[in-house]
Amino acid sequence: MKITVLTLFPEMVKCFTSESILKRAQEKGILEVRVKNLSDWGRGKWKKVDDTPYGGGAGMVFRVDVVVGAIKELKHKNKKAKVILLTPQGEKYDQKRVQMLSQEEELILVCGHYEGFDERIRDYVDMEISIGDYVLTGGEIAAAVIVDSVARLLPGVLGKEESHQDDSFSEGLLEYPHYTRPEEYEGKKVPEVLRGGNHKEIAKWRKEKSEVRTNERRPDLT
Ligand code: ADE
Repeated sequence: MKITVLTLFPEMVKCFTSESILKRAQEKGILEVRVKNLSDWGRGKWKKVDDTPYGGGAGMVFRVDVVVGAIKELKHKNKKAKVILLTPQGEKYDQKRVQMLSQEEELILVCGHYEGFDERIRDYVDMEISIGDYVLTGGEIAAAVIVDSVARLLPGVLGKEESHQDDSFSEGLLEYPHYTRPEEYEGKKVPEVLRGGNHKEIAKWRKEKSEVRTNERRPDLT
């Protein structure tokens, strides 16, 4: 899968995508992350990408000609690439959307900054995504969240294929509790059933714990 991130601050994105599992996924050729500097499409000597808002008000607004120029060029090679605008006004990101995006051939993630985007840019994107109901200084962290969450679902990225199958949210439930050695710590014991080796019993216990935890913590998921 290919993911292109369009940003004014490429280093912010690269520092997330060039370590650990994402680094390995790229080395294995499963994932290709390209980070493009929006300034390369900027206007004039100063490579200007933004301007003051019509009607007045604080902050700067990304220019439609600059952002759409970049999108058109990046999309030129693959018309099937999905263009996603990162904005607090987008649809809220969740594991269902992660799964949906992981089926795509190519994503182009467009990071905002400052006051926002010229409204006309919205006509050139396929989707708008928000990673939560709070406002970040820009879309870079949101882009890193998307690259990370999508990459780990691609076959071969995680060590074992099944290691994301029990994830929280994958069945609409939070994940069950985990334990490892020592068997007892300050009087707190690992549940008996997990030490018994009866796989059917273990699966039943985990399912129950998942349900109880989801009901207690996230009743909105059920
Ligand atoms: N840019 C600023 N805030 C954001 C958010 N919550 N989600 C996505 N992009 C953003």
